[in-house]
Amino acid sequence: MFKQHFFTLSNGNKIPAPSTIGTGSIYFKSNEEDYNPSLTQFLERSLKELKGVIHIDGADCYKTYPETGDALKKNFKEGWKKREEIWYTDKFDSKGGRSPSPKAHINKALEKLDLEYVDLYLIHHPHVEKSLNLDIVDVWNEFIELQKEGKVKNIGVSNFSVKDIENLVEKTGVKPVVNQIEWNPFLFNQSPGIYKYCQENDILIEAYGPLSPLVNYLKGTDTSSEGAAFKSYLDELAKKYGVTNTVVLLAYTISMNVLPVTTSTKFERIQDAQNFVNDHPDLKLTKEEVERITQLGLKHDASRRYKSWTDHYTEYESQSQKI
Ligand SMILES: NC(=O)c1ccc[n+]([C@@H]2O[C@H](COP(=O)([O-])OP(=O)(O)OC[C@H]3O[C@@H](n4cnc5c(N)ncnc54)[C@H](OP(=O)(O)O)[C@@H]3O)[C@@H](O)[C@H]2O)c1
Repeated sequence: MFKQHFFTLSNGNKIPAPSTIGTGSIYFKSNEEDYNPSLTQFLERSLKELKGVIHIDGADCYKTYPETGDALKKNFKEGWKKREEIWYTDKFDSKGGRSPSPKAHINKALEKLDLEYVDLYLIHHPHVEKSLNLDIVDVWNEFIELQKEGKVKNIGVSNFSVKDIENLVEKTGVKPVVNQIEWNPFLFNQSPGIYKYCQENDILIEAYGPLSPLVNYLKGTDTSSEGAAFKSYLDELAKKYGVTNTVVLLAYTISMNVLPVTTSTKFERIQDAQNFVNDHPDLKLTKEEVERITQLGLKHDASRRYKSWTDHYTEYESQSQKI
């Protein structure tokens, strides 16, 4: 029987996992006018046919509000999912003059999405556009106000280091409930010590790039023997549990207390992720299996998708694969 998995955030709210529809990366566009009907159709089909709570990951810079807004409107018109059966995450990004302030941005986003609130609002990265008269603490203070106003139900950050988070907490006394970072067994620490810090401080890590170890291998961009050994163990477990190796990796991520944020252009893959992670009675990786996946991952070099978030990433490499 289908049983939706939820993580409990530090404020007691429950967040559905996995997030199966990321509207960035493969759907990323440079402007909203380049409408992508395949994304609208994909979202509509997911809202209509998938079981459980649909967790959509969005952001200002993905430029996918028109498609998401159209799909949400159709959903409510057709009565497929109720508002509480949809989780929508949005992100604020001031870089390149994208948005002057979190408040200005969220008001516009809500209008485009035709929603009264978003479930989670994240600061996309710790950099604030220099020409704006704001620093990162001002941004966080606006987030806190927006939560009080009810326009955003939960507030968090993305691509933040330990220092970045400590700065916000020290200046405002308010801890983010989520830190969305690049995370998978080939990149345990996007920045030094971030996995352990978030676990110890009850900040839920959301992983983007959760499938990179498999995707890079399949694409042929990872030709290492460690990559092959990793995939081969996932295949062994997939056979044992009667699921795909993708599902094993997503189940592993959840076992590590990390919420995977994945996406696909193929409905069957999304369905597989949504259904099997939530609906497979036998899919309980043992402690030993989880540990073996971790150990195989640690043998692989740190593998990072975006190298330019911060100047420090090269320095971090030697610390990225320590947990
Ligand atoms: N906060 C941030 O800075 C940030 C950065 C990047 C991404 N994100 C978010 O994270 C979301 C997830 O993106 P991601 O690229 O990181 O996710 P991912 O799950 O690591 O990778 C997605 C890729 O995996 C492929 N894939 C999915 N299922 C597969 C399967 N069963 N077998 C083989 N390949 C499979 C997809 O290709 P197919 O289409 O061929 O299935 C797609 O190219 C984005 O959409 C965005 O919302 C956030």
